[in-house]
Amino acid sequence: MSETDSLKQESRMFEPPADLARNAAISGMEGYRTLCAEAERDYEGFWARLANENLAWHKPFTKTLDESAAPFYKWFEDGQLNVSYNCLDRNLQNGNAGKTAVIFEADDGKVTRVTYQELHDKVCQVANGLKSLGVKKGDRVVIYMPMSVEGIAAMQACARIGATHSVVFGGFSAKSLQERIIDAGAVAVVTADEQVRGGKQLPLKAIVDEAIGMGGCEHLKSVVVYRRTGGNVAMQAGRDLWLHDVTANQPATCEPEFVGAEHPLFILYTSGSTGKPKGVQHSSGGYLLWAMLTMKWTFDIKPDDIFWCTADIGWVTGHTYIAYGPLAIGATQIVFEGVPTYPNAGRFWDMIARHKATIFYTAPTAIRSLIKASEADANVHPKNFDLSSLRILGSVGEPINPEAWMWYYKNVGREKCPIVDTFWQTETGGHMITPLPGATPMVPGSCTLPLPGIMAAVVDETGNDLPNGQGGILVVKRPWPSMIRTIWGDPERFKKSYFPEELGGTLYLAGDGSIRNEKTGYFTITGRIDDVLNVSGHRMGTMEIESALVAHPLVAESAVVGKPDETTGESICAFVVLKRARPEGDEAKQIAKELRDWVGKEIGPIAKPKEIRFGDNLPKTRSGKIMRRLLRVLAKGEQITQDVSTLENPAILDQLKQAQ
Ligand code: PRX
Repeated sequence: MSETDSLKQESRMFEPPADLARNAAISGMEGYRTLCAEAERDYEGFWARLANENLAWHKPFTKTLDESAAPFYKWFEDGQLNVSYNCLDRNLQNGNAGKTAVIFEADDGKVTRVTYQELHDKVCQVANGLKSLGVKKGDRVVIYMPMSVEGIAAMQACARIGATHSVVFGGFSAKSLQERIIDAGAVAVVTADEQVRGGKQLPLKAIVDEAIGMGGCEHLKSVVVYRRTGGNVAMQAGRDLWLHDVTANQPATCEPEFVGAEHPLFILYTSGSTGKPKGVQHSSGGYLLWAMLTMKWTFDIKPDDIFWCTADIGWVTGHTYIAYGPLAIGATQIVFEGVPTYPNAGRFWDMIARHKATIFYTAPTAIRSLIKASEADANVHPKNFDLSSLRILGSVGEPINPEAWMWYYKNVGREKCPIVDTFWQTETGGHMITPLPGATPMVPGSCTLPLPGIMAAVVDETGNDLPNGQGGILVVKRPWPSMIRTIWGDPERFKKSYFPEELGGTLYLAGDGSIRNEKTGYFTITGRIDDVLNVSGHRMGTMEIESALVAHPLVAESAVVGKPDETTGESICAFVVLKRARPEGDEAKQIAKELRDWVGKEIGPIAKPKEIRFGDNLPKTRSGKIMRRLLRVLAKGEQITQDVSTLENPAILDQLKQAQ
């Protein structure tokens, strides 16, 4: 039985705990349905009410939704606000000044606590520092930082002065960083000397130097460096400055720059099925509203909660559920610099116990790798740790298989914590389809139902609704406040990618397949319907990896496909044709290693193919189209049962069967 079939048949249902349901922000299915009905009755009124109740507006908005230039939707457009003001100043005014905003735990275990007042002061100093370098409203700032209070402060500081940040994950290579600096037209980069993960130092500033050295970054005026380790770095006079020098003597207040609700808060690059990564542009007002609301609804956040999202600020999860959502709602959160397996694979459980975390949000890949680790070493099994503080668990980034769900539920949540399996994307800004911890009966492997106001549906290739029980394409029928606004610098690509004409031009295409349960109407995500891979919750385009491979002087042609992987969800398998004779044995191994390292340099270590197979050619139709479908079957090690009579060169399949 395939995983999809087993998911379709999954019938175990777990009710939310009664006491949690009683006090939840959305209490019981009644509460959920009431909100959904409100959204259906008066869509704009629903969002206007929420935006007025949840955000502090400098100037109130008069129009909720402008659809005149659809699909370039505008929300709350004539309203003005400042995101950092909403996240920080508001907390100082409502009695949270002395409340811990961040419990930072470094890789080596050192803990630092930062109050809302301290975070506010730090952000203002960084904001003033950036201003002193000439950074102003509308400028773009690239942030290439480790997990740190300074990383969050840099993001908030940009928001404070109206600069648009673009955070680049620390695992991306110099080339990827350079491409993003150029595409965003950044005037400044904020980075650190080194990042520390799992006891190892990784140079960040040196990678920034390498990226700039590749050329094309003439618009870049300043590089600001946070001293994390004190490691040796080269500082270029006139361009590079230490963060502590830039912020020294800066006042701890900074008048926020109030911006229109549609002002771009950030650009975050993500992979699509074709071409280079897309700069997903998000707004200020609509984005922040959803970050806050989903903290309330999905995580049922309460004043005493200790929230922990294990994502990196380099991904959207770290934007919405570390840098913005928890602060906007005035929560206390844990921010972790390191990795789950250092000094051992009990690190997460130990941290939950020590900090008394109440809400824990992580990725299925992490859970699966910790299951494996606890099978190998009983000492790191969660049962050895006091996890009684936990009340809600979350999952994000990829489908969670029912086995991993059950393990998480039993061993981490001790059968008393609901699991919110949150389906969403870089483009959606926040959760879309997820159980509510005090309302939705949960089914392992299903993200259950859309949040109130999110009009998700399953349709066929022409955009027509499909009945429950029939798999199809996941779409969203109405715009929502935190949706992507455009692809930075490429509005045409935005339209084509997300509102394709084939579906009628008005439906938001998520890029995932989905099926709804016949009885419950619950959604299950069946995986991407395009050439996007999900490896350990990291999104990658097959074309990106193929382009990186063919840029190597030895490579003539390549095709990359995903292969199911027990731990990482999917792994990358590359089929490669060289410009010379097909290598075998040790030589094949050596070239495969060289190509893997090459991809690591071109994109980043996360994009390195796990497996590389060499062939004299690739399976192609007579018209020259590569049959990826067949390659997927070969990668899995399965027998080809499809008709291969249309292939130009069926003999090639035998050659590509073997992993080298
Ligand atoms: O395929 C879906 C998968 O991750 C994709 C979005 O990736 P990204 O933009 O990097 O954002 C990840 C963090 C939100 C989706 O198109 N995905 C995300 N969450 C889930 C999921 N698949 C199944 N279940 C989920 N809960």
